[in-house]
Amino acid sequence: MYLCFIMFSYATCQIFLFACRRVSGNGFTGKIPNFLGSLPNLVDVAFHGNSFEGPIPESLSNLTKLTTLQLGDIVNGSSSLAFISNMTSLSNLILRNCRISDNLGAVNFSMFAQLISLDLSFNNITGQIPQSILSLGNLRFLSLGNNSFTGMLPELISPSLKSIDFSYNQLTGSLPSWATQNNLQLNLVANNFFLGSADSSALPSGLKCLQRDTPCFRGSPEYYSFAVNCGANSSTRGSDDTIYDVDPSDLGAASYYVSSQTRWGVSNVGQYFSFSASDAKNIIYSPQHFQNSDDSKLFESARMSASSLRYYGLGLENGNYTVLLQFVEFAFPDTQTWQSLGRRVFNIYVQGHLKEKNFDIRKTAGGKSFTTVNRSYTTIVSENFLEIHLFWAGKGSPRIPTEGYYGPMISAISVSPNFTPTVRNGGKLPDGRDIAVKQLSQSSHQGKSEFVTEVETISAVQHRNLVKLHGFCIDGKTPLLVYEYLENGSLDRALFGNSSLILDWAMRFEIILGIARGLTYLHEESSVRIVHRDIKAGNVLLDTNLTPKISDFGLAKLYDESQTHVSTKIAGTMGYVAPEYAMRGRLTEKADIFAFGVVMLEIVAGRPNTNNSLEEGKIYLFEWLWSLYEKAQALGIVDPNLNEFNKVEAFRVICVALLCTQGSPHQRPPMSKVVAMLTGEAEVAQVVTKPSYINEWLLKGGNQSYVTCSYSGFTSSDVSTSKESKHLTTGAGHG
Ligand SMILES: *[C@@H]1O[C@H](CO)[C@@H](O)[C@H](O)[C@H]1NC(C)=O
Ligand SMILES: *[C@@H]1O[C@H](CO)[C@@H](O)[C@H](O)[C@H]1NC(C)=O
Ligand SMILES: *[C@@H]1O[C@H](CO)[C@@H](O)[C@H](O)[C@H]1NC(C)=O
Ligand SMILES: *[C@@H]1O[C@H](CO)[C@@H](O)[C@H](O)[C@H]1NC(C)=O
Ligand SMILES: *[C@@H]1O[C@H](CO)[C@@H](O)[C@H](O)[C@H]1NC(C)=O
Ligand SMILES: *[C@@H]1O[C@H](CO)[C@@H](O)[C@H](O)[C@H]1NC(C)=O
Ligand SMILES: *[C@@H]1O[C@H](CO)[C@@H](O)[C@H](O)[C@H]1NC(C)=O
Ligand SMILES: *[C@@H]1O[C@H](CO)[C@@H](O)[C@H](O)[C@H]1NC(C)=O
Ligand SMILES: *[C@@H]1O[C@H](CO)[C@@H](O)[C@H](O)[C@H]1NC(C)=O
Ligand SMILES: *[C@@H]1O[C@H](CO)[C@@H](O)[C@H](O)[C@H]1NC(C)=O
Ligand SMILES: *[C@@H]1O[C@H](CO)[C@@H](O)[C@H](O)[C@H]1NC(C)=O
Ligand SMILES: *[C@@H]1O[C@H](CO)[C@@H](O)[C@H](O)[C@H]1NC(C)=O
Repeated sequence: MYLCFIMFSYATCQIFLFACRRVSGNGFTGKIPNFLGSLPNLVDVAFHGNSFEGPIPESLSNLTKLTTLQLGDIVNGSSSLAFISNMTSLSNLILRNCRISDNLGAVNFSMFAQLISLDLSFNNITGQIPQSILSLGNLRFLSLGNNSFTGMLPELISPSLKSIDFSYNQLTGSLPSWATQNNLQLNLVANNFFLGSADSSALPSGLKCLQRDTPCFRGSPEYYSFAVNCGANSSTRGSDDTIYDVDPSDLGAASYYVSSQTRWGVSNVGQYFSFSASDAKNIIYSPQHFQNSDDSKLFESARMSASSLRYYGLGLENGNYTVLLQFVEFAFPDTQTWQSLGRRVFNIYVQGHLKEKNFDIRKTAGGKSFTTVNRSYTTIVSENFLEIHLFWAGKGSPRIPTEGYYGPMISAISVSPNFTPTVRNGGKLPDGRDIAVKQLSQSSHQGKSEFVTEVETISAVQHRNLVKLHGFCIDGKTPLLVYEYLENGSLDRALFGNSSLILDWAMRFEIILGIARGLTYLHEESSVRIVHRDIKAGNVLLDTNLTPKISDFGLAKLYDESQTHVSTKIAGTMGYVAPEYAMRGRLTEKADIFAFGVVMLEIVAGRPNTNNSLEEGKIYLFEWLWSLYEKAQALGIVDPNLNEFNKVEAFRVICVALLCTQGSPHQRPPMSKVVAMLTGEAEVAQVVTKPSYINEWLLKGGNQSYVTCSYSGFTSSDVSTSKESKHLTTGAGHG
C-alpha cells in the first residue's frame, strides 16, 4: 500500500513529493510512483527527504516538458541515465546520490541548451567527461563529484560556468588552461591529476596533497594532532589548552582549502537549491553566545554544506587517534513557530566508516537548539591521512527557515593521538619563518607558571652558536617548545648519516670552534649558568651556512633527575657521559667538556665513538686513538674521506680532545681555555694521562652486558630510565 503526500500546483504545474511510503515489515520504504509518467505536462518535480527505492521508473522519460527535476537519495537498485534523453527543456537537473551506473554517452548533452544547473554527484557514472557538457552556453553549476569518471579534462569550457565539482573521480592528466581562470570555483580533490607547479598556481594551494594517493608526507609524517574552529575567523584556545585553528575560507559550492602549515584541509561541494548567492552560505554565525559551554567561542561559528563536507588531517603520524566533533544547532529557533520545525539530518563518516546515520544535532541535544553536543570516535591512521566526512543524504527539512539551511553543520574538530608521538607537529611560524617544534613529556613536579618562567629564562639565553628558542605553547596537556628550524640537520647526520653534505677540514674546524664558543657562552658568559648535560653530535644542528648551533640546552632544568624528555634522555647519552657523572651522578660543566671532547674526535674521525661493525681495536674511538697516540701516530684517526687537511690544526684538536676527556674532571680545561687552545692563542698542555677508564674497557671488553650497561662501553643507546642509571652505577662500581 502506498501512502503519498503530494503537493501539486495546477497553476504552475509543479509537484513536490514529500513522502511516498509503503508500509512494510521493516518500517517505511518508498518508491517513486510510476504514475508520474502519465502526467506529461509536469514542469517541476522535486523529491526531497525520502529514501526512495530504486530503480528510477522508466516512465519518467515521458516528462519531456520538465524544467526542473530534483531527485535524490535512492537507496537501492541501479538506474541508467537514458530516461532523461528527451527532457531537453530542463534548466535544473539534480540526480544526486541516485545509484546511477551509466556512461554520459547515453545522453546527447548538446541538446540541453537550457541547463543552468546540473548535479549528477554521488553516483557511479563512468567514462570520460564529454566536451558537450562543458560547452553548454547557460550552464553555471556543474557537479559530477563522487563518480568513476576517467581520462583527462576537456579543453574548453563555457564562460557561463561558475562552479565545477569533479572531486572524487579517477581523472588524470595535467590541467587545461581554463582550470586556473579566475572567478571559477573548481574542486579537483581526490583525483589523479598531474599537478606541475605552474598548473596549479592560480588554484588554492595544497591540491597536490589532496590527490587520491595523498602524496604529501606519505611515509614522513610531521604532525600528531590538529584542531579546527570550523568557520571561525580567529583561532581559539580551548579550555583544555588545545589551539583550534581559524577556518574562515569562503568555500562556496565547489572548493577546498589547505591550512598554511599543510596540517589539515577541508573540501566542500554542494549547491543549495535556491541559486541566490545570499542564501548560499557555507559559514554561519550564531546570533547568541553559549553561556553553558566552557568553550563558547568554538560554537559561535559553524561550517555548513549543501551536500558534502570533508575535513582532512595531513601528515599525521600513523596510529590510533581520537576524533572529537563538536556541534550546536542554531539555525532553528526553539520558539513555537514554524521555523522551529526545521530538522537537520546528516551522516558522519570517519576514515570511510559510517559512524552516525541520520545524525540530528538538535535531537541529540534533547530537542534543544543552542545546546552543545559532541561525538568522539577512535580511528586508525595508516597512511598519514585522516578523513572526516559529513554527508547530507537527503533527509531533513530543506526549506526551513529558508532554502539553504539543511545539510551538515559542524562547529569544531579536534584530533589527538592515543599514543606517544615521535614527530613534533613541525611547521612554520605564521610570518613564514621555519620552525621546529619539540614535544616534552608533561612535567609532573612543576606547575605551569614554573615551567613558563623556566622557558622564558632559556629563551633569554641567545648566542650565534645556540639554537634559538622562539617560544613555547601548551598543546593540550603537552608542553611544546618552538625552535628555529635549521635546514642542514644535525651534525651526526652530516658526519655519519646519509646526508648529502660533504664537510671538508676547514668546515669541520669551524664547526668545532663554533660548538666550543656556544658551550663557553652557556658555562661562563650567559646570565644564567647552564650545564647542558647532553652534548653530543645529535644535539648540534647546522644552519644554511653550516654554522653549528647547540640545541636542547636548559631542558635539564625543566625536569627531575629521574624524568626523561622525548628526544634526549636526561642522564645523557652513552658514549658521551663523563665517568664521574656516570658513576657518582656528579654533575658540573666538566661533564659537558668531556662530552665535547668526544664530539671533537668524532668530527675529526668522521665516525661515531662506538661502531661495533669495525675490527677489534677500532670499535671504541678512544681506545683506538690512545693506541695510536702512544705510538705517536695520532693523525691516523683522521677521517680517510678527507683528501687533505691541516695537520697542525688536526693534531691540536686531537690533543685538546684528549685533555677534555681526562678521567679526572679537574684535569679538563674550562671551555674558555679550550677555545683559546683551539685557536692557537694558548699553548696546548702536553701532559695527558691515559684515563683509567680506557683500561677498564680492555679488561671488560668481551662482556656484552657490561658493554651495554656501562658508560665505558660507549654504546650509542641512551640511558633511558633512572633504573638503568642505577644499574649502570652498580655495574661500574663492580668493575
Ligand atoms: C507516456 O505518455 C504517453 C502519451 O503522452 C502515454 O500514452 C504513455 O502511457 C506514457 N507512458 C507511461 C510509461 O506512462
Ligand atoms: C529495494 O529494497 C526493498 C526493500 O528493502 C526491496 O523490496 C526491493 O526489492 C529492493 N529493490 C532492489 C532493486 O533491490
Ligand atoms: C525520445 O524521443 C524519441 C523521438 O520521439 C524516441 O524515439 C525515444 O524513444 C525517446 N527516448 C526516450 C528515452 O524516451
Ligand atoms: C547531439 O545534438 C546536437 C544538437 O542537437 C546535434 O547537432 C548532434 O548531431 C547530436 N549528436 C548525436 C551524436 O546525436
Ligand atoms: C560502478 O560501476 C562499475 C561498472 O559499471 C561496477 O563495476 C561497479 O561495481 C559499480 N560500483 C558501485 C559502487 O556500484
Ligand atoms: C563516493 O564514492 C565512493 C567510491 O569512490 C563510494 O564508496 C562512496 O560510498 C560514495 N559516496 C559517499 C557518500 O562517499
Ligand atoms: C569574524 O566573525 C564575526 C562573527 O563571529 C563577524 O562578525 C566578523 O565580521 C568576522 N570578521 C571578519 C574579518 O570576517
Ligand atoms: C584505539 O584506542 C582506543 C582508546 O585508547 C582503544 O580502546 C582501542 O582498542 C584502540 N584500537 C586499536 C585498533 O588499537
Ligand atoms: C562532550 O559532551 C559531554 C556530554 O555533554 C560532556 O560531558 C563532555 O565534557 C564533552 N566533551 C568535550 C571535550 O567537550
Ligand atoms: C644546506 O642545505 C641546503 C638544503 O639542503 C643546501 O641547499 C645547502 O647547499 C646546504 N648548505 C651547504 C653549505 O651545504
Ligand atoms: C637516509 O636518508 C633517507 C632519506 O633522507 C632516510 O629516509 C633514511 O632513513 C636515511 N637512512 C639512514 C640510515 O639514516
Ligand atoms: C661502522 O662501520 C662499518 C664498517 O666499516 C661501516 O660500514 C658503517 O658505515 C659504520 N657506521 C657508522 C655509523 O659510521
